[in-house]
Amino acid sequence: MSSLKKHIFICEHRRPDGAAKKSCGHQNGAELKKALKQKLAARGLHKTFRANSAGCLDACEHGPAMVIYPRGIWYGAVELSDLDAIIETTLLDDRVIERLQIRKKE
Ligand code: FES
Repeated sequence: MSSLKKHIFICEHRRPDGAAKKSCGHQNGAELKKALKQKLAARGLHKTFRANSAGCLDACEHGPAMVIYPRGIWYGAVELSDLDAIIETTLLDDRVIERLQIRKKE
């Protein structure tokens, strides 16, 4: 039985250089996923919370974007410096960080 409690999908989509539309791959998407994986592993949380790469999440204007399931919490303009707060507040305490939230459930 899996002990996985939350799944974090981080957009790494990269449009060609010069594309009119922004893409998370050009805004640290891959670095965010790598850093989150490292932080989770360093704290022994990698079997409880899994960070995965995602293609375009259709939130490009808010990139870099991520969505955290099962609640479907959407965050945008995420910076490396936000990752500790995301781990503490959203992953461990199950609370939303409103300043990062880009979509709310209807
Ligand atoms: S490129 Fe990341 S949400 Fe579209």
